[in-house]
Amino acid sequence: MSDDITTVLPAAGDAAGRRARREPAPSAAQTTALFPPPTAGGPAQAALPLDPFPHLPSDLATLDARGITAWFGDHQVLDRVSLTMPAGEVTALIGPSGCGKSTFLRILNRMHELVPSASLAGEVLLDGVDIYDTGRKLTEARRDIGMVFQKPNPFPAMSIYDNVIAGLRLTGIRASRDEKDHLVERSLASAGLWKEVKDRLRQPGGGLSGGQQQRLCIARSLAVKPKVLLMDEPCSALDPTSTRVIEETMGELQKEVTIVIVTHNMQQAQRVSQQCAFFLASQGQPGHIVEHGDTAAMFDSPIDPRTYDYVNGRFG
Ligand SMILES: Nc1ncnc2c1ncn2[C@@H]1O[C@H](COP(=O)(O)OP(=O)(O)OP(=O)(O)O)[C@@H](O)[C@H]1O
Ligand SMILES: [Mg+2]
Repeated sequence: MSDDITTVLPAAGDAAGRRARREPAPSAAQTTALFPPPTAGGPAQAALPLDPFPHLPSDLATLDARGITAWFGDHQVLDRVSLTMPAGEVTALIGPSGCGKSTFLRILNRMHELVPSASLAGEVLLDGVDIYDTGRKLTEARRDIGMVFQKPNPFPAMSIYDNVIAGLRLTGIRASRDEKDHLVERSLASAGLWKEVKDRLRQPGGGLSGGQQQRLCIARSLAVKPKVLLMDEPCSALDPTSTRVIEETMGELQKEVTIVIVTHNMQQAQRVSQQCAFFLASQGQPGHIVEHGDTAAMFDSPIDPRTYDYVNGRFG
């Protein structure tokens, strides 16, 4: 279990974070970089609010990436990518394979630094505060900014109930039994899964269908009450019905959490997102954003001819 769980919410001060700390060679235009020393000891113990999911929209947050440049070793894969992902909206990242969408997404919640050779420059501001600031804990950034992956990755032998609350321990949140029960129901309901699993919460997460497993992973991310949810091709391994359910769930979720989704499905980008960014890495150059803005405008009247060609399926 531990291998899997670290990909969801690695503990503070993990060895990978230390290994990844490496000063890149940013140009003058690039700003501070970034891997602060891991904090000593475990995460602070925080008490869970009585109602961890108030009915009113919680503190929706804007995520602002500024001048993100990224390397794997000497290979530069992103070049000064700046993008504002507005609070309470869905932002879709589109672009051909290998242009750096997943790398950009992982930088948004400090997972990039888990790769030993990885380094980066730039800033990621969550409501104005840089998640790479030396005063910020790694676990804090990953709790605030959750991630859902392409392949559903619940802990297969762990019960549905325990899967949902798996992130609490890792982020140091303590909760009573009643609070956990409440949290499990709220998280599963927000992920659109409660009705299907409420009578089998003690059964293993691995017994669910692929689409249900993906919604379980969404519930697990929501249980620590993130401000932002990052989704890397969350439906690409799912059938059309499961995809539709997840897309509907996203429509509801965006009222309580800012969403950033990577997708290769142009129809999906148009269905689920209000903002869109088109990434491109041409002829061995690092990935950059060609065009971004309102999704409908990007698809109906793109400014750049490359955007037009991509959204109309002419390449990629
Ligand atoms: N762990 C890694 N080590 C070295 N290079 C990597 C690593 N992960 C990604 N890369 C390289 O970084 C570049 C961007 O990859 P990334 O996965 O971000 O692209 P992507 O846009 O998400 O592609 P796809 O649409 O296929 O998922 C590619 O050249 C890739 O080979
Ligand atoms: Mg990818």
